[in-house]
Amino acid sequence: MKIAITGSDGQLGRALQTTLASHTLIPLAHREFDVTDRANISRLAALAPDIVIQCAAMTNVDGAARDPVSAFRANAFGTQNVALACQKCNAALVYISTNEVFDGKKEAPYLEFDAPNPINVYGKSKLAGEWYAQHLLEKFYIVRTAWLYAKGGGKFPDKILELAQRQAALSVVRDEIGSPTYVPDLANALARLIETKQYGIYHLVNAGSCSRYEWAIEILRMANLPRPIKPITLAEYSRASTPPPNTALENFAAATMLDISLRSWQDALRAYFEI
Ligand SMILES: NC(=O)c1ccc[n+]([C@@H]2O[C@H](COP(=O)([O-])OP(=O)(O)OC[C@H]3O[C@@H](n4cnc5c(N)ncnc54)[C@H](OP(=O)(O)O)[C@@H]3O)[C@@H](O)[C@H]2O)c1
Repeated sequence: MKIAITGSDGQLGRALQTTLASHTLIPLAHREFDVTDRANISRLAALAPDIVIQCAAMTNVDGAARDPVSAFRANAFGTQNVALACQKCNAALVYISTNEVFDGKKEAPYLEFDAPNPINVYGKSKLAGEWYAQHLLEKFYIVRTAWLYAKGGGKFPDKILELAQRQAALSVVRDEIGSPTYVPDLANALARLIETKQYGIYHLVNAGSCSRYEWAIEILRMANLPRPIKPITLAEYSRASTPPPNTALENFAAATMLDISLRSWQDALRAYFEI
């Protein structure tokens, strides 16, 4: 298949280029292909991909809270442009969405059929991207994922390890629950999903869930870097964005219908340390 990847220099975009190497790939990095530029609708359509994987996004949630217009430009209107390009060339779209489309009030993991109700700008802008994918196209996969990390990606595990090298003790939020997801595992699951042509909404995350606090404990235990960690609350951790408290996702659709599931978040974290 001929597969275009927007945001190809991001952590998921890079992993997909490795996982999908047997296909004909068109990597579209931000510097050469800005999804907010409407001229890129025709440009992308002219490349005639079979599938476009929309990894491009403004992913800095606090930045989105400070600059909502930029968040909507990239995440909503940028996806509108990419969906219109897919319409023109009859390509399928894989839109990567987020756990933050939910309000985090549910006391169990969110299924694909739960109603989104984002409480912050990032979640609202990503949900608007979902709407464009659904309303403009027949051939779309909306894939919600969460708490992505990869070696050297600078996300939560890298940050905890860096803090532990510099500080004798850490404070980590205990009342934000999610599904840590290892980027290479997500890339593998996406590679299988796009073969199915079973279009729809999916939650692809490593199995299980934990709080940021529990995640940090496991990271330091596996790194053999014992440090005291003080559990704090979201209310005590001041930041521009308001994270939804409980947005663990359950992979119900792909596991039930397609036999696509990801290993536990603990096994995936072990793999991150084995690289
Ligand atoms: N990271 C997470 O925890 C997480 C969780 C759930 C869902 N997701 C979703 O997963 C997808 C991939 O995320 P990721 O972790 O790989 O993020 P990432 O590493 O931040 O990659 C995003 C890429 O998009 C590019 N980009 C930003 N604005 C763009 C624009 N206007 N036009 C073209 N490219 C643009 C970025 O370029 P610059 O670096 O130059 O800005 C970057 O290369 C995103 O859709 C994100 O919303 C991420």
